Amino acid sequence: MSFYKFLVFIHIFSAIIGMGPGLLMTFVVIQSKPNNMTELRTAFKIRNSLHILTMIGGTMLLISGLWMGFLNIYWFTQGWYVTSLILFLIALSFGPFLLKPRSAPIKQILNDYQGEDIPKEYYYYSKKLFNVEHVENLIFIIIIALMILKPF
Ligand code: HEM
Repeated sequence: MSFYKFLVFIHIFSAIIGMGPGLLMTFVVIQSKPNNMTELRTAFKIRNSLHILTMIGGTMLLISGLWMGFLNIYWFTQGWYVTSLILFLIALSFGPFLLKPRSAPIKQILNDYQGEDIPKEYYYYSKKLFNVEHVENLIFIIIIALMILKPF
């Protein structure tokens, strides 16, 4: 196996390890339909574990993708490659600029709220957070399609 093929192997594995859990993160909380704070906290614990995999897989995707580009400079002339790279960096910047400020009030509710009834504010803040996550997931789906189809 050439080193390049090894990178493709790592890249595809990272896509599965990173993007699979990443695309599920939002739905674990929505679909588990938590009825009280205990269930909500459990849903967020599962979500946090999925997020760790997403961060590991996402970092490996970027490193292996760029490495393949440096080994085969031709990729940098291809639209699918450059577009994916830009979209990936945009999605990455969502973390500190859009997701962190939206998840901070939710974390505070999960840590500090006393009582079992889920407060109304949670639904307000989670809607704002999940809307951004839906956009981010859409970006990743576009990248996956670009990677497989390499259309331009
Ligand atoms: C959401 C992020 C990403 C996912 C899920 C993903 C997934 C994939 C998959 C499944 C393939 C194999 C497609 C095939 O050849 O049939 C692939 C190929 C490739 N990806 Fe990505 N990728 C992602 C991000 C990136 C980024 C950010 C770069 C560049 C920095 C990149 C560079 C490449 C290259 C160069 C190939 C072609 C390998 C080859 O056929 O020789 N990928 N990607």
